[in-house]
Amino acid sequence: MYFLLMFIMLFSTASNKQIRLKNNGRFPDKFTFGTATSAYQTEGAWNLDGKGESIWDNFMHKVPSPALYGDTGDIACDSYRRYKEDIRNAAELGVQIYKFSIAWSRILPTGYANFINDKGLTHYKNVVKEILKYNMTPAVTIYHWDLPQRLLEDGIDWTTNDLIPHFVNYSRILIRNLPEVGYWITINEPKQICRLGYGIGVIAPGIKSNGVLEYHCAYIVLKSHAAVYRMFKKEFPHYTAKMSLGSDCQWIRPLTSSPSDIEAATRQLQFECGMYFHPLFNGDWPEILKQRIQERSFAANLSKSRLPEFTDEEIYDIKGNYDFLGINHYYTIFTKNGIESPPNITSYEADVRVTDSFDVYKPDGIYELLKWLTEEYGYHEILITELGLGQNFTYLNKIKTPHLQSKPPYVITENIYINDIDRIYHFKGYMCYILEAITDGINVIGIIIWNLMDDLEWIFGYNIRFGLYYIDFEDPKLPRISKKSAEFIKDLMRTRTLNCTETIQPVCLI
Ligand code: BGC
Repeated sequence: MYFLLMFIMLFSTASNKQIRLKNNGRFPDKFTFGTATSAYQTEGAWNLDGKGESIWDNFMHKVPSPALYGDTGDIACDSYRRYKEDIRNAAELGVQIYKFSIAWSRILPTGYANFINDKGLTHYKNVVKEILKYNMTPAVTIYHWDLPQRLLEDGIDWTTNDLIPHFVNYSRILIRNLPEVGYWITINEPKQICRLGYGIGVIAPGIKSNGVLEYHCAYIVLKSHAAVYRMFKKEFPHYTAKMSLGSDCQWIRPLTSSPSDIEAATRQLQFECGMYFHPLFNGDWPEILKQRIQERSFAANLSKSRLPEFTDEEIYDIKGNYDFLGINHYYTIFTKNGIESPPNITSYEADVRVTDSFDVYKPDGIYELLKWLTEEYGYHEILITELGLGQNFTYLNKIKTPHLQSKPPYVITENIYINDIDRIYHFKGYMCYILEAITDGINVIGIIIWNLMDDLEWIFGYNIRFGLYYIDFEDPKLPRISKKSAEFIKDLMRTRTLNCTETIQPVCLI
């Protein structure tokens, strides 16, 4: 996710590395491409056909609004009604996977499994049917951040063990009713759910418990994922679908070659990516997390670590619940060793102890990351479950003119969004480095582009655009217009080949 990134894009630098590939820039025949959406960001129809309220509906309806310009997902792209058009647009790109998420409260309005909303279930059955009509594989995210509000109000959320059976019940209903799904992603970006939702509290449910509840959240997320995976394997042994967690993992580089910065980058990588992947592959937290958080907890006179400890039984249960390694990747972080904060400071930042900056245009970061994941966790199929670049002109405008209360008018003839040449360079750069990783024997099986069409970028509203299709949100008809990047993907799907020998161009976003 793009939080914290916005300012950095201004300073993006070019990667001038020339890459040469053994396979002439051709993607292997079995390699799959896809594109994606998520429920709250696109569906709208927030209270239609029996849907219950989600924590995002509730959060975005707060006064004052937590979102830029008071945007909400009430209508979004209206995809609940226009899913056929959206799926056709994806099919026209020529991609093989269509990833979408299911709104828990559309299926179970209160979150509890005692009442299934047939209209909600029928809707998603129709979505799957439509995807199959175009010979695409449906990939479903079971949870993309929209917990039913009623569960939260009943004290059942990502910080309580009580959530686990409800998440399993909900998942079982989906799996049973959608047997044609090819990929199940149980939980999208646990780090964002926990860090932003329960640590710094800038996304729903907006709980601020930096360095405390956010670790409980990670603990519950991992146990919930494991419980669903085990249920899936036990109760649906005849299914061929693959299941995993979709964890966001950026590449982290030391800012300088000093040993302390190198150590800081390794530490941060374990906090950011290892927090979820290490338990998934090895059953327990990375050693450095246990060490740092315990040390700082004891220094603050706590009787135990703020990081929950897995029991032996939990370690056994959590380990190995994956059919592939799913990563969402967006940028590279440059890290410098930080100064130790006093023990009374309780925060994730103090636990990690780094200062960092970001760069979205470091396509070789994906190569380094893929190599690291393979070295760290072994040779597995890797599916890049999200990869993309947002354009944020409206947002940058807001920074430049903070006094503006309403959106500056957007003149479509400028075509800055539709002629998104910068994003083509971005895709090309990242894809070339993915090809290089494949050439080096890393088992990347596919890339899912985030995302199909411009949508609600959470608290940034409609002001950051990731879509292959442009949507004019000022026009009530919400027309979908194919961007230059969509044409690039169409060509790529025809040739499956990239010319990676030319210098990769810098991205200029403003
Ligand atoms: C999330 C998406 C989001 C994208 C861009 C990912 O973290 O899964 O929901 O739109 O980043 O910020």
